[in-house]
Amino acid sequence: MTTLTHLECSLCAARFEAGKPHHLCACGGPLLVRYDLEMARASWNREWIRTGPSNMWRYAPVLPVRGPGSVVTLGEGMTPLILARRLGQRVGASNVWIKDEGVNPTGSFKARGLSCAISMAVELGVKRVAIPSAGNAASALAAYAAAAGLEAHIYMPRDVPQSNFIECQAFGARVTLVDGLISDCARLVAAGVEREGWYDVSTLKEPYRIEGKKTMGYEVAEQLNWQLPDAIFYPTGGGVGLIGMWKAFEEMQALGWIGAGRPKMIAVQAAGCAPVVRAFEQGERRCQFFENASTVAAGLRVPKPLGDFLIMDAIRASGGTAVAVSDTDLLDAGVTLASEEGMFAAPEGAACVAALERLLAEGFLKPQERIVIYNTGSGLKYLEAYSTRFPREAGGEPDKLGGLITPR
Ligand SMILES: Cc1ncc(COP(=O)(O)O)c(C=O)c1O
Ligand SMILES: [Zn+2]
Repeated sequence: MTTLTHLECSLCAARFEAGKPHHLCACGGPLLVRYDLEMARASWNREWIRTGPSNMWRYAPVLPVRGPGSVVTLGEGMTPLILARRLGQRVGASNVWIKDEGVNPTGSFKARGLSCAISMAVELGVKRVAIPSAGNAASALAAYAAAAGLEAHIYMPRDVPQSNFIECQAFGARVTLVDGLISDCARLVAAGVEREGWYDVSTLKEPYRIEGKKTMGYEVAEQLNWQLPDAIFYPTGGGVGLIGMWKAFEEMQALGWIGAGRPKMIAVQAAGCAPVVRAFEQGERRCQFFENASTVAAGLRVPKPLGDFLIMDAIRASGGTAVAVSDTDLLDAGVTLASEEGMFAAPEGAACVAALERLLAEGFLKPQERIVIYNTGSGLKYLEAYSTRFPREAGGEPDKLGGLITPR
C-alpha cells in the first residue's frame, strides 16, 4: 500500500518518525509527509490507477495510511472535470474546465482532507478529535468522525452557513459557535487540546489533511491524460489545496508521470479578506493578519494562513498570480455560471469565475490556454448568501413543509 517513510518540517527540514501523532515542528513549521518515491516508481504504474477504487484512495501508494483497514471513506474524490463551453465563449477562452468538488460527501472538497486525517486518527488510536473551522471542514470532520465512531468537537464562527451548523449536529458532533473568526476558534481548540487531550485536526497543524487534498492534483493530471493544464484557479483560504496540489505535481514528476512544466497557480480571494493577494502584491513571503475580515465566501475568511510561505512560493515559482474579487462580483459570477453551465458553485468557486474573466480581459491568460477552475463546494451549502439574489416573500411556513407529498 503506502510508500510513506517519514514526516519533514517545511521550514527547517527536521525529520519526524511516522506512526506517531505529530503536529507542528518546534520551530512552528507545518510538517509534510514524505514517501519513498523511488520505490513507488519501481512498483507502481499510472496505467493501473484506473482499475483502482473510484475515489481518492486509488492513489493509496502516495497516501499515508499503512493498514487498508484504517481507511475511512464515504466515496470522496474522482469528481467530474467538465468542459465549460458556454462560460468559455462568453469570457473568450476555448479550453476552460471546471473541477466540481461540490459533489463530494458533505458537498465540498474538505471531504478529501478529512477522510485522510480521520483514517490516520484511527490508525494512531485517537478517540477524540477537535477542529476550528470556517464551516465546510467542520461538516466533513463531523461526517468522517461519525463514520469512524470518534467523538468530534467543533468550533465555528457564530455566523457560519446554516448548512454547516445543521450538518455537524446531525452527524452528532459537539458544536460551539464562537463570536469571532476561525483564528479565535483556533485558540479555543488549542485550549481544549491542552485541557482535554483532544487530537487537533486544525489545517496544517495536522499533517494528513493536505495529503487528502493533494489528490485534487493527481486527479486533474489523470483526467487530462497526464498533461497538466496551463493555469489553475484555486479559491484560497488556508491555501491547503493549492499547497497540496503543488506537492502532488512534485511527487508525480519524481514518479516519472509528468515533466517539469507546471500550471500557473492562481490564488483567488475575497476582497474582504485578501491577505495572500496583499502579500503577493507587496512581494512578501509571509502575510500580515487581515483585520476585520468579512465575506460571504465563508471558506475564504482566513485572516492569516499558517502556510502562507508555501502558498506564496507555489504562486511565484509557477508564474501565477493572486486576485481579489468583491462579494457582489463573486455572487454574480455564481449565478451566471449556474445559468450558463448548470453548475451551482459555492461562492468560493464562483470567485474564480470572476477572476478568470478579469485575467483574460487583462491578457494575463491567453484564449487557447487550458484552464482549470476548482469549484470547491456546492452552492446548496450557501443558501443564505444566494438568497440575497433571489428574495422571496415569506409564506413557506414550516408546518406546511412536506405537505404536498404527505397532506395532513
Ligand atoms: C468551499 C471552500 N472553498 C475554499 C476553501 C479554502 O480552502 P483552503 O484552506 O484549501 O484554501 C474553503 C475552506 O473552508 C471552503 O470551504
Ligand atoms: Zn521545523
